[in-house]
Amino acid sequence: MRILGRGRIKTVLVTGGAGYIGSHICVELLDAGLEVLVIDNLSNSSQEALNRVEKITGKTVLFYQINLQDKARVKTVFETHTIDAVIHLAGLKSVGDSCRLPLEYYQNNISSTLVLLEMLEQFSVRNIVFSSSATVYGDPATVPVTEQFPLRATNPYGRTKLMIEEILRDVANASHIKVVLLRYFNPIGAHESGLIGEAPNGTPNNLLPYISQVAMGQRDKVLIFGGDYPTIDGTGVRDYIHVVDLAKGHTKALQEIVGNGSKGESCQVYNLGTGHGHSVIEVIKAFEQACGHKIIYEIVDRRSGDVAECYANPALANEKLNWRAEKELSEMVMDAWHWQTQNPKGYKID
Ligand code: UFG
Repeated sequence: MRILGRGRIKTVLVTGGAGYIGSHICVELLDAGLEVLVIDNLSNSSQEALNRVEKITGKTVLFYQINLQDKARVKTVFETHTIDAVIHLAGLKSVGDSCRLPLEYYQNNISSTLVLLEMLEQFSVRNIVFSSSATVYGDPATVPVTEQFPLRATNPYGRTKLMIEEILRDVANASHIKVVLLRYFNPIGAHESGLIGEAPNGTPNNLLPYISQVAMGQRDKVLIFGGDYPTIDGTGVRDYIHVVDLAKGHTKALQEIVGNGSKGESCQVYNLGTGHGHSVIEVIKAFEQACGHKIIYEIVDRRSGDVAECYANPALANEKLNWRAEKELSEMVMDAWHWQTQNPKGYKID
């Protein structure tokens, strides 16, 4: 990793760094020799994840438990440290909650981003990577999805992602701040150590943590939302990507913005996916191989707002970032299972 060697980026602030994706990103940044600061309000994450990051890497993370909307406290972090780049993940992310509590989602996700961007301007921080989502493509007309596809969010959570993308484009056009928008497909799996992974509060919304809990005997059966989609077996198809591959995409994105100097575009957009789709039933079958026993499931009605099929064309990231998702579905579910068996209650300790 040459980011540090070139002396361009030494210290990276990760907002939401104690979360599932953030903690894996912290590992990659520390392994690359960068200094890592985390701001996280721990509303859906645990400080224990950062203890585990330190255990994996043998390095220290500087942690601030701050709500990003609290401008005065965020400012003290920027006053205390010379920050070279920001990876912005902090935000509320439940599609269902966002439909019930739209104002909370707009307030939290948008205003915290505005505070952060004000700090970037004030303290001359020139680089930001934003955690966007394939949700900005809505229900794509065809697959695989390229970055040029029309954008259309279908729920308030997705709209916050889209709005933040647009805010960042405007900021990139109007200032020296360079922006990379990374559109994640479906991150799953866990670090191979089994020390960090996905630890949802309450009933999981997403497929993988749900399957993991059924496999552990913590829940009775997986409810498959829809068996009549026009897909290979009637169940929804997604582009599942190993969270460690996704995390590596962030260090590559940082390399790209600093490496390109003034030649680079001010706002770049990349899909981070594998380019392959898997159905819900394929994922369950792969998980059965990993855990060694059957997983009971039942096909129920479609979930409102779900699309039949969504997977990436990741060619742009392959080419421009020199990044490629390397891990197969079998490795993703094996690592998810390893994490779940090592941490049946997530980060909670009785
Ligand atoms: N599914 C089930 N049963 C479950 C959960 C999910 O059958 O209990 C199915 C869904 O219908 C879908 C697939 O499994 O076909 C994946 O669902 P997830 O909820 O795991 O993921 P989504 O693709 O719906 O959503 C994810 C993120 C969103 C993000 C979106 C697009 O959760 O934050 O990808 O990027 F916006």
